[in-house]
Amino acid sequence: MARTHRIAVIAGDGIGPEVVREGLRVLERAAAAHGFRIEPTRYPFGAEHFLKTNEIFPDSAFTEVRGHDAILLGAIGDPRIEVGLLEFGIIAKMRFELDLYVNLRPVKLYAEHLSPLKDTTPDDVDFVVVRENTEDAYAGMRGFFKRGTPDEVATQEIIFTRKGVERAVRYAFELARKRNRAKKLTLIDKANAVRAMDLWTRTFAEVGAEYPDIARDHQYIDAACMYLVRDPRQYDTVVTSNMFGDIFTDLAAMIQGGLGIAASGNIHPGRVSLFEPIHGSAPKYANQNVANPIATIMAASMMLEYLGEPRAARHIENSVAGLNQSKRLPSLGTDSGLSTTQIGDLVIEAMEKAGVPA
Ligand SMILES: NC(=O)c1ccc[n+]([C@@H]2O[C@H](COP(=O)([O-])OP(=O)(O)OC[C@H]3O[C@@H](n4cnc5c(N)ncnc54)[C@H](O)[C@@H]3O)[C@@H](O)[C@H]2O)c1
Repeated sequence: MARTHRIAVIAGDGIGPEVVREGLRVLERAAAAHGFRIEPTRYPFGAEHFLKTNEIFPDSAFTEVRGHDAILLGAIGDPRIEVGLLEFGIIAKMRFELDLYVNLRPVKLYAEHLSPLKDTTPDDVDFVVVRENTEDAYAGMRGFFKRGTPDEVATQEIIFTRKGVERAVRYAFELARKRNRAKKLTLIDKANAVRAMDLWTRTFAEVGAEYPDIARDHQYIDAACMYLVRDPRQYDTVVTSNMFGDIFTDLAAMIQGGLGIAASGNIHPGRVSLFEPIHGSAPKYANQNVANPIATIMAASMMLEYLGEPRAARHIENSVAGLNQSKRLPSLGTDSGLSTTQIGDLVIEAMEKAGVPA
C-alpha cells in the first residue's frame, strides 16, 4: 500500500483558505507523481468559526490535530477580532503546546529580478535561519501595573533556558553539517547589551566544540541587519533567538522576493510539526482569488521534506524556481494579473513538464 501522510489543515482567515487550496492541489499532484497519499483533515478554526461559535481552538480538536503527521496552516487574523486573540489562541498554542522549538526559514533567491538588492543573484542568497521558537519575550510573562493611568508600568520578561537554547543551537549545527555547503554557523544575538544572552554565547561555544567541522561566526543583531543587506552571501546557516529571528527573517524574506514567496516550518524533530507561509491573512485581498499562493506551496514542499519525501519536495521547489526564473510568477501576486488559481495551475503544469526528478 502507498505511504500515507495524514495532514491536519487549518486554512484560517483572509487569504488563508485560497492559498491553502492551491497548496493542497500541489501536494496531491506531488503525491500522485511520487507514489504516496495525502490524507487531509480540515479544521474550521479562525475568525468566522469564532464569530459563529465563540470557540477558538478547543482541546478536543487540539488533541486530534496533534495526532497527525504534520499540520498545514494558512493564516490567522481578522480585523473584526481583538488583536492577537486568535493568533495567540491558535498559532501560539500550537507552537508552545506542541513544543515546536525550531522555526526554520530557508532564504533562497530563485531569480535575480525578485530581489530589491542591486546586482544580487541566486548565487548570493542561499541560507537558512534557525529561530528559537518557544522562549524569549514570547513566553507570555507580562503584566501591566496601574494600567491606563499616568503612572502605568508595563513589563514583559525575556526568558532563555539552557535546555531551550541548547536544542536550537544543536539543531542548527546539525543542519549546517547536513547542508554541507560553507559548513558555517552564524550566531546572531545582542549579548553586549542583553546580558542574559551570555547563555547563548556560552552554549554556542560549548556545543560548537562537538562540531569541529563547522566554522563558528558571531554577529550582533544590529550589525547582522546591515550585513544582510550589504553582503547576504556570507550566510550559510544562522541561529538566533525568537525575537531577533522574527525581525531578521522578515528582512531576509524581502531579499528573497518578499512575503509572496517565503515559507517556514515550526518543527519539533520526530513529532508533528507545522508548516505555513510567513505572511498573514492579508484581509484586503480575501475572497478575491488574487493572493499569491507560492509561499504556501513552498511550505508544502518543506512539509514533504520533513515527512521523508525529499524528491517530491525538490520537484515542487524546482518547478517554482523555474517559473520564477522565467519571470512567469510575481513576487507578491496582486500586480501580475494572475489569479491565485492560475498561479497554482502554472506550478502544476511546471511539475508535469519537469517530470519526476532523479
Ligand atoms: N502566521 C500568521 O497567521 C500571521 C502572520 C503575520 C500576520 N498575521 C495576521 O494577519 C493579519 C494581517 O497582518 P499584516 O497586514 O501585518 O500582514 P500580512 O502578511 O497579512 O500582509 C502584509 C502585506 O502583504 C500583502 N500580502 C501578504 N501576503 C500576500 C499574498 N500571499 N499575496 C498577495 N499579497 C499579500 C498584504 O495584503 C499586505 O499588503 C493580522 O491579523 C496579523 O495578526 C498572521
